[in-house]
This record gives sequence, C-alpha cells and structure tokens, in this order.
Amino acid sequence: MIPENTGPAAVIVLAAGAGTRMKSRTPKILHEIGGRSMVGHALLAARSINPRQLAVVVRHERDLVARHLSDADPAALIVDQDDVPGTGRAVEVALQALDAEQSLTGTVVVTYGDVPLLSGDLLAELVATHEREANAVTVLTAVLDDATGYGRILRAEDGTVTGIREHKDASDAERLIREVNSGIYAFDAAVLRNALAHVTTDNSQGEKYLTDVLALARQAGGRVAAVVTADRWQVEGANDRVQLAALGAELNRRVVEAWMRAGVTVVDPSTTWIDSSVTLEEDVRLLPNTQLHGATSVARDAVVGPDTTLTDVTVGEGAKVVRTHGSGAVIGPDAAVGPFTYLRPGTVLGESGKIGAFYETKNVTIGRGSKLSHLGYAGDAEIGEDTNIGCGNITANYDGEKKHRTVIGSGVRTGSNTVFVAPVTVGDGAYSGAGAVIRKDVPAGALALTVAAQRNTEGWVQANRPGTRSAELAQAATSHSSSTPASTEEGK
Ligand code: UD1
Ligand code: MG
Repeated sequence: MIPENTGPAAVIVLAAGAGTRMKSRTPKILHEIGGRSMVGHALLAARSINPRQLAVVVRHERDLVARHLSDADPAALIVDQDDVPGTGRAVEVALQALDAEQSLTGTVVVTYGDVPLLSGDLLAELVATHEREANAVTVLTAVLDDATGYGRILRAEDGTVTGIREHKDASDAERLIREVNSGIYAFDAAVLRNALAHVTTDNSQGEKYLTDVLALARQAGGRVAAVVTADRWQVEGANDRVQLAALGAELNRRVVEAWMRAGVTVVDPSTTWIDSSVTLEEDVRLLPNTQLHGATSVARDAVVGPDTTLTDVTVGEGAKVVRTHGSGAVIGPDAAVGPFTYLRPGTVLGESGKIGAFYETKNVTIGRGSKLSHLGYAGDAEIGEDTNIGCGNITANYDGEKKHRTVIGSGVRTGSNTVFVAPVTVGDGAYSGAGAVIRKDVPAGALALTVAAQRNTEGWVQANRPGTRSAELAQAATSHSSSTPASTEEGK
C-alpha cells in the first residue's frame, strides 16, 4: 500500500558551494556533527516532511559529494549546477531537472546542506503557514544581535515582507536591520519558475540571487510572508570549524536533553556525547565522559561510564560498562565490562558474563556466566557457559600468516597465564594448570599441565652476584637457616 503523501511537491537542498573557510580537503557538507554529515542532517529534515521529490544541487567536489549522497539518501536526485553562480541558479537547475518529466505544481521548499540543526518540525511549520496563507513565497527568518553577512528582510510600514537585500548590496540604513534571511523558503512552484527566469546577475557579487525572487513574486501579485523563528540555532550554517564545533555542541546538548526527558540519567551532560543515531531506554545511567556513537543501543537499567566510548555496541539490560573502549560488540544483560577493557568487533558477551580489567577481545563469543576477569587477549574464539578463564590467559590465534580458532567448552577452569595455541579445543569441565601452553586438544574433564620441573641452584646469587644487596640479604638469610640440600627439583 502506498501511504498518502501529504508533503510538498519537492525539497531542493543547496549544496554546491565551495566552503573555502573550512580549509579542508573534505567538502564542507560532509563534515560531521553528532555522528552524521551536515548534509545527512539536512536530508533527514527534508525527508521528514515527506516531499514527493528531493533534489540536491552539487558542484564543488561533485563526485565525493554524490557518492556520499547515494549512501545517505539513494532516492535523492543529484543535480549539477553549471558555471552560473548563485543560489538562484542552483534552484533554477534543480527545478529544471525536477520539471523534466512533469512540471511541478504546489509547494517547493529550499534548504541548505550546511544548516544541520534545522528540524523537520520547523520545516513543517513553514510549509503549513505557506499553504494556509496561500503565499507565493514564505521565507524563514530570525532576528539576530549581529546580522553581519546575512541578507536582510525588507518590510513595508505595515510589516509585509517586500524583499531581501544582500549584506554586500545593502545601504547603511538597511544594514541596521536585524531580521535576517535564513535561506530556507517555501515557494509556489509556478511563481518560482517564472521569477527565476527574470533574475539577473546584476549585483555586487555577479550571482543569480534566489533572494530576488521575493520582490519579483510581489510584482507579479503574489503574497510574500515570513515565519520568524526564535530558535537561531535552527537556521545557523557552519562556514568554518569554529562554527562546526559550536553547532556540534548545541546539537549534542539537545540530544542529551531529549534523552534525559525520556528517562535517561546523564550525570554530566557537558561531557556526555551521544550521536543522533543512538538509542537508549528508560533508567539507563550514563556517567561522565561517555561517548556513544553510531548504532549503539543501551537497554534498561544499564550503567555506562565513566570514561567509556562505544561505537555500534549493543548493551543489554542491567549491564555495567566501566572505562571501556568498544566497537561492534554485544554486551549481554547483567554482564560486566571493564575497567580498562578494549572490545573489538565481533565480541559477544553472554548474559551475566564478565570481561574484566586490561582485556582485549575480538571475534569471540562468550557464553552465559563465563568470566574473563583480568589481563589477557581473547580473539577468534568461542567460550561456553560458566567457564572461568584465569588471569593472563591468551588465545594465540595468529601463526604469522593465518588466524585460527580456539574453542573452549562450558564449566572450564583455566590456570593463570594459560596460552591456547590455536587451532585448539578444550572440552567441557576441563582444567589447565598455571602457565600451561595448550597445543593439543584437552578432553572434557581433563587437567592439562605443561610443566617443566623447577630447579633451584642454591647459593647462585652469592656466587654470581657478589657484593650486591641481593647477595648480602641472601647470605644473611641462609646463614640463619639450618643446612639445606644443595639443589632441589620439584616433582621428584
Ligand atoms: C545566502 C543568502 C542570504 C542569506 C544566507 C543565509 C542569497 C543570494 N543569499 O547568502 O540572503 O542570509 O544565505 O545563510 O541566496 N549554493 C549553491 N550554489 C551557489 C551558491 C550557493 O548551491 O551557486 C549553496 C551553498 O552551498 C550554501 C547555500 O547555497 O549551502 C548558501 O550559499 P552561501 O554562499 O553561503 O550564501 P550567502 O552568500 O551566505
Ligand atoms: Mg555567497
């Protein structure tokens, strides 16, 4: 069933500009805040009002941008701007492309690819006002303390919007106006098409200004109006990295606040960073210095942090993740991770399991209740349930050319510093002794030892390190004790 489409005829996202002030090899609109490119945010806002068509105008770094767009929004129409500069020309080429099959009728919305905080709600309000008032053009504006650089909104005595004057073309009196053009508009398609045909490049920048459409629409008898937003962040663009960081911080502030209102405890909002794509449940607790990225999700009652960075990690209900750096991992319900733990992709920790301090894991499935408590590496392995991996255990998975698997059963107890030389299998309920190097499979219930006899050479230190503090103390200790055999071997 095709859902009823109540949105505008089209949204045109302008993204052809060079963004020189970023001083970057990465096109400006591909720079990210909140884990998503600026143009990605713009596309989501545009999509949320359900347009029948969506076009993005590109030119600078065209191929890089187009590749990104086809990932971010495969259905978007990519339109190339030609040599004629200006926002008016950008919209004109987009309209021509959109009109190719059938002339658009109804509302056409224009937004920018570098205005990432614009919300779908504000766009919807713009469209609703435009259609309710049957306007020819409705422009989104804001009143700023410092309007330098922006196009100024010109109004008649009675308050009606008469046009927009670009900063560079404005008189001193006009420059005192603090109401600015956001660059975001709703147009009637026919009015826009006709007006653009009359827009010239006769201005201080030699560009086709989209802003000229307002005065032309009025001359043609159309109604021009404005929606004034009190939320300046929603119309703010990022031109350099200072603005990018400011917008990123504001976006994060909004995301963190929304999660707190949804029932998440955030102990220190200013050091907690949550990507727009993350999902959290009620009664999650986030401790200071926590960063949650990508497709990370955290279930009820879980506690994450402090000092934890998770990317694409699923955290189960009631789990605790302390001082951990993780990506591509699954942490089961009531499991515990950290402190100082590095979870690499493919780590799956079962319910009530534990990966403790100074552990690195990768491509490992750990069953329910199994514990890897301290100091080690587990990679390319499968560990059953209720197994205890001793301190300092390592899966030696790499033979210099290929990776091999270690399979450890359930109810296993391994001694400290056991090394599993993969490929190797350890059966259920087996034990290993301290320092064991497991090169052969261990049957279920067996104790695996790889012990070499210990040999003590008495008096070695006094003989070979004479005059040292060690030799001195050894001499003092041995002269007090009764005579002992010259050499002992364990296990005899
Ligand atoms: C424009 C507006 C100005 C408004 C300001 C808000 C015009 C003439 N002026 O000014 O009134 O206050 O935005 O930020 O519209 N772009 C293209 N093709 C082009 C030129 C620009 O796609 O040929 C895109 C840019 O990538 C950018 C947007 O349009 O996303 C605005 O371009 P920019 O050069 O920043 O416009 P301003 O001169 O700042
Ligand atoms: Mg410009």
